[in-house]
This record gives sequence, structure tokens and C-alpha cells, in this order.
Amino acid sequence: MKNIKDDVLSVLVSEEELDKMVTRIAAEIDRDYADSDKKLVLVCILKGSLVFMGDLMKKITVPVEIDCMKVSSYGAGTQSTGQIHIALDLIRPDIDTCDFLIIEDIIDSGVTLSHLTKYLMLKGAKSVKTCTLLDKPSRRKVDFVPDYRGTEIPDEFVIGYGLDYAEKYRALPFVGILKPEVYLK
Ligand code: IMP
Ligand code: MG
Repeated sequence: MKNIKDDVLSVLVSEEELDKMVTRIAAEIDRDYADSDKKLVLVCILKGSLVFMGDLMKKITVPVEIDCMKVSSYGAGTQSTGQIHIALDLIRPDIDTCDFLIIEDIIDSGVTLSHLTKYLMLKGAKSVKTCTLLDKPSRRKVDFVPDYRGTEIPDEFVIGYGLDYAEKYRALPFVGILKPEVYLK
């Protein structure tokens, strides 16, 4: 029987580490928005952030609404195209009364989050902050610092906990490094 774990070279962030990280970020968000009378909207960037978003929203205790956008900067491979395509836009009548917190799985070149932040501000958002689980700062093409961050990782192509390679491996409960022979095949 096929097991998706067979394609994993090594575990980079374990389930326990992910749980601690998500708990810590949720506490930071609770602290920062505690005295706010604003409408906080968590925006899940599909599909990679689905698992992180689900775990994070369960641990946040301040009132939040949720929304989703679908954006892609990657083709089928492991290199960013540097271009952003919005496949599912944010459609709501109250954008000007919302504080958005974009929930992203990983920042690589920084193109996606810097573009999305500007895009939501142009659409009239009251404020836009960003939260990423993983960060590969060595790969930046545009200057971008997220407001919340799980952990920095080296320049490796990672999968699991929502992140995919060619739509596979999203269901892995940890973040792992893919065996290079899988994408060099
Ligand atoms: P950026 O626009 O270059 O910052 O790209 C961010 C997006 O690229 C993320 O939302 C992911 O979908 C994808 N990405 C970047 N690095 C990886 C990786 O190591 N594994 C899986 N997807 C990645
Ligand atoms: Mg993504």
C-alpha cells in the first residue's frame, strides 16, 4: 500500500512543534487585538493555509470572522513564477470596516503577501496584517516582514500541514522535506 510518508526525506517541524507554534501565535493575536472594538477577519489563503488556519482559529479567543482567497504564484514545480493570480477574490460589502489578518502557509519570495497586502488596502480595508507559519527569508525577492511568524526555515522545498507538491502531501500532519528524486523525476 502507498504511504505518502515514504516520499519524505526528513521531518522539519514536528506535530508537537507545530502545536506549540500555533498556540504561541494565537496568544500573540489575542494580546494584540484584546482591546480592539474592530472587526477582525482572518483571511485563509487557499489551499496551503487551510490546515494552519483551522488549527489557529480554534486557539484564538478574541472574536473573529473568517474568509478565504485563492491565490497562486507557483506553477506545478518548486519555483515561483513571480506572478500572482487571484483565483478567488474577497467579496464582502463591509471591507472598509474590517481589519484583515492574512493567514499564509509560507513566505518565499514575498511576492504573494506584499501584493495581497497592497491589494486589500486598495480595496478599502481598514488595516491589513499578515501571519505566516513558515518563512524562508533567504529567498526574498521583495522586502517583506510578516507581523506574525511561526518559524524561519532554510531554503528547502517543504510539504505537509497544508503545503503541497503538485497537489500532493497536504494531509501530512507535520512539515517535511520532500525527497529531491520526487521532483527531479
Ligand atoms: P511567495 O510569493 O514566493 O512568497 O510564495 C509563497 C507561496 O509559494 C506559498 O503560499 C506557497 O504556496 C508556495 N511555496 C513557497 N515555498 C514553498 C515550499 O517550500 N513548499 C510548498 N509551497 C511553497
Ligand atoms: Mg500558499
